[in-house]
Amino acid sequence: MKAINENTITDAVIEQLSGTPDPRLKQITEILVKHLHAFAREADLTPGEWIRGIGFLTAVGQKCTEFRQEFILLSDTLGFSALVNSLHDKRGADLEAATKSSLLGPFYRKDSPVMEAGATIVTKPTNGMETCVYGKVTDTKGRPIADASVEVWQPDEHGDYDLQKMDPSEMDLRGRFHSDAAGRYHLRTICPVGYKIPMDGPVGDMIRAQGRHGWRPSHIHFLISAPGYREAVTALYIEGDEHIDSDTVFGASDSLVVRVSRNDAASPIPGLPSIGYDFRLAPVAAGEGSGRVGADPSELARASQ
Ligand code: BEZ
Ligand code: FE
Repeated sequence: MKAINENTITDAVIEQLSGTPDPRLKQITEILVKHLHAFAREADLTPGEWIRGIGFLTAVGQKCTEFRQEFILLSDTLGFSALVNSLHDKRGADLEAATKSSLLGPFYRKDSPVMEAGATIVTKPTNGMETCVYGKVTDTKGRPIADASVEVWQPDEHGDYDLQKMDPSEMDLRGRFHSDAAGRYHLRTICPVGYKIPMDGPVGDMIRAQGRHGWRPSHIHFLISAPGYREAVTALYIEGDEHIDSDTVFGASDSLVVRVSRNDAASPIPGLPSIGYDFRLAPVAAGEGSGRVGADPSELARASQ
């Protein structure tokens, strides 16, 4: 029998995994074990520290409900979701030319009301600055995509999403539009403000322990889809927000930053401040899986079965 010690333990575990029938599962678990062991060695981890880590992960799991996914928040705040999304953005055809992805976040819901072009997604009294958001949905060559679904959702002028402040039977500041024959979409909304990620759980404790601020820069979420194209899960970030370079979940990036214009002759609603942005979709690759790390409870339930 081989002696198990700090030098032999990694190979011993990998040997036991060698019979894993699924080749991808075998590859992922081998790499995971190697890096996990390397982490313990490099940090010279003590048993007490590991027990604290296990306590933290236990608390993260216990905070999860059908409506709250604390593990995704952990993945987001450690930059892991943004990394996995970036790796996904690199796979497939013509992705350099496609709109960059951003995080889905915990406040997406599938059942947004379908709205006519130019409708407002604001359904409650608000002091927010009314704004037009408009542009085109095109392929990566700039050719229009007609009848693309443009789902949009955002927080109010205080930084709260409907799901945080009202019964889920009610909705506000979300809608689903469709592009016209020239690929154009436009809608009315209010200019969002930044907000803190949910800070009332173990991930919030971690953020405070790390001396981080917990803010996300102001943004509007989009999920754009059309048959034959890769779904774009993204967000537009409002230029000038003080947290744009220190987003707690690493979702903001240069190509997604937009300016609110006062006198934009191209805006379809003259007189309103406007944000113009064209979304470019890449063709879907054969056998491609979902491109989002996000909160869709039914997908998560399936993944854990
Ligand atoms: C959001 O954009 O809503 C969000 C994304 C990731 C974590 C928390 C919030
Ligand atoms: Fe958000």
